[in-house]
Amino acid sequence: MQNKILQQGAEAIISLDNNNQILKNRIKKSYRFPELDNKLRTRRAKSEAKIIEKLKNIINVPKIIKTEDDKITMQFIDGKKLSDNLEKLDYKKICKQISETLTKLHNQNIIHGDLTTSNMIYAEDNKQKLNITNSKISKATQNKTKNNNNNNNNNNNFKIYLIDFGLGFHSRKIEDKAVDLHLLKQALEAKHFKIADECIKIILKNYKPKQYKLIIKRIPIIESRGRYKNKHH
Ligand SMILES: Nc1ncnc2c1ncn2[C@@H]1O[C@H](COP(=O)(O)OP(=O)(O)O)[C@@H](O)[C@H]1O
Ligand SMILES: [Mg+2]
Repeated sequence: MQNKILQQGAEAIISLDNNNQILKNRIKKSYRFPELDNKLRTRRAKSEAKIIEKLKNIINVPKIIKTEDDKITMQFIDGKKLSDNLEKLDYKKICKQISETLTKLHNQNIIHGDLTTSNMIYAEDNKQKLNITNSKISKATQNKTKNNNNNNNNNNNFKIYLIDFGLGFHSRKIEDKAVDLHLLKQALEAKHFKIADECIKIILKNYKPKQYKLIIKRIPIIESRGRYKNKHH
């Protein structure tokens, strides 16, 4: 059976393969010399997979299954993309979890580089568990688990997964961490304007990595420059 294409962006094609795994395939750029293009795509795929691997025990990220040249195979996170759902969900709790995730991320000196709600997936714990159990235990037990889940509709047990580290990089700099937050702020204002102020307040209040005071102080400076230097590759 053919892979099912989930999204085709400017940089990558994301598809779901027969094993219910995500395949991230970087798109060839015809304006580059083929040899250079191959090298760049492979380098970027490797870099993305390496960052995700480094974070696997620190924050919620998809498991990397394999990397092959310019292709990454990873775990499919069965959930809701925050860009389409934030307002409908318990966004205050979600924002708190986002700030905890960013605290851990920045304490590792990793910059995401593209913090938008399109790169965040909300997954209910029960659902993820159920996916694992599906292949392992009997139907009767599964139904029991399902019923138990249904009794608990108001689900507090969720995880926010960060995906898409294609623009991620290592940095200890206050500036780079502040730009990450600035981009998230902008993304919230653009896409979730009704709740953006509330969200930003919660995120900044709960974001507590090393040097967080300096990082937060840097945000208005970045904004006053109006335009920041884009340091991505
Ligand atoms: N591991 C994953 N699990 C579930 N959905 C994913 C996963 N990786 C990517 N996606 C989906 O594909 C979209 C694009 O993937 P992403 O890695 O963000 O690539 P791009 O660089 O094109 O933005 C995401 O917004 C998400 O909807
Ligand atoms: Mg993305």
